[in-house]
Amino acid sequence: MSALVSIRDLRVHFPVKGGRVRAVDGVSLDIAPGETVGLVGESGCGKSTTGRALLQLYTPKIAEITGEIRYQGNDLVALGKARGATVKLRPFRKDLQIIFQDPYASLDPRMTIGAQIAEPLRYHALVPKKDMAAKVAELLETVGLSPAMAARYPHEFSGGQRQRVGIARALAVSPRFIVCDEPISALDVSIQAQVMNLMVELQDKFHLTYLFIAHDLAAVKHISDRIAVMYLGQIVELAAADAVYDTPLHPYTQALISAVPIPDPSQRTRSRIRLEGEIPSPLNPPSGCRFHPRCTYAETACKTTEPPLTEVSPGRFVACHPVARGVRFPIREAPASTA
Ligand SMILES: Nc1ncnc2c1ncn2[C@@H]1O[C@H](COP(=O)(O)OP(=O)(O)OP(=O)(O)O)[C@@H](O)[C@H]1O
Ligand code: SF4
Ligand SMILES: [Mg+2]
Repeated sequence: MSALVSIRDLRVHFPVKGGRVRAVDGVSLDIAPGETVGLVGESGCGKSTTGRALLQLYTPKIAEITGEIRYQGNDLVALGKARGATVKLRPFRKDLQIIFQDPYASLDPRMTIGAQIAEPLRYHALVPKKDMAAKVAELLETVGLSPAMAARYPHEFSGGQRQRVGIARALAVSPRFIVCDEPISALDVSIQAQVMNLMVELQDKFHLTYLFIAHDLAAVKHISDRIAVMYLGQIVELAAADAVYDTPLHPYTQALISAVPIPDPSQRTRSRIRLEGEIPSPLNPPSGCRFHPRCTYAETACKTTEPPLTEVSPGRFVACHPVARGVRFPIREAPASTA
């Protein structure tokens, strides 16, 4: 099936005093219609920047963006730099939406929830004025809120309810693709599952395609078809969710997985590979393989030559020299006595 969104060699660099932050540095990814791709990695690896660049949320003043983001035959990167970018991007802004981690920060405290859900509908002239209240009521019901809540202000809502409002606002314009930027990680654990279930239901109902961002693999394993693991601005592993989770091939993915807490220690079959040291700065990323200063398996070539993302088996991509040669690192088994 052809991709709904096709990203090629995307780079997003922020010019700052003393250099440039290479937040995203050569990301390529195809996302199929109806698919959920999980995007995971440590804080600062460029997940949100990738999502925001996809939606062209940066002006050329803030970020230098190169590469391609193809959507329905158009390159959004080129459109974002073109004269009259605001008008040219407008039709795509309807199709591509985002849900933020902190719905409170993205809602205006002085506007009612109803007015805020109606805002994108007005901007894109999608609903006649006389039908607006009914449409807002319908959207509130779709996300499990009472239509009477339209008259309330953001501070009158709980965290979970506010995230439902954020979802209603994204859904208002009937999008096809939604970047979900850690939409549940700021919520109480007790309501995370409810909001997650809602997002899965909505995906089925409206045939949505998701790029679902999270810190750790466990959070996206169940909802993702495929998972992309990011490290310092680049994708280091990309494959079916089960494959990435059960048999990770890249040393960084292996370390990320071993950081996932296992509820019952007697079920533990993997020993922990500790991630040594801080994540290096994207202002001055390491040469060669960016993971080499933290990698147990680093070879001489790893310090000088960047490993390309290589298809090591059908649909399975890894950026690592030894793995590309066929080497498979053990997913370490813990000795039985430690159980
Ligand atoms: N507007 C900006 N100007 C300069 N640097 C930025 C800007 N936005 C992000 N960065 C930097 O780019 C890098 C990637 O940030 P990004 O927010 O994409 O990471 P992330 O993977 O989403 O992290 P987190 O898990 O903490 O949300 C970080 O080093 C960050 O400090
Ligand atoms: S390319 Fe080398 S340094 Fe990078 S992950 Fe593979 S073994 Fe480690
Ligand atoms: Mg982020």
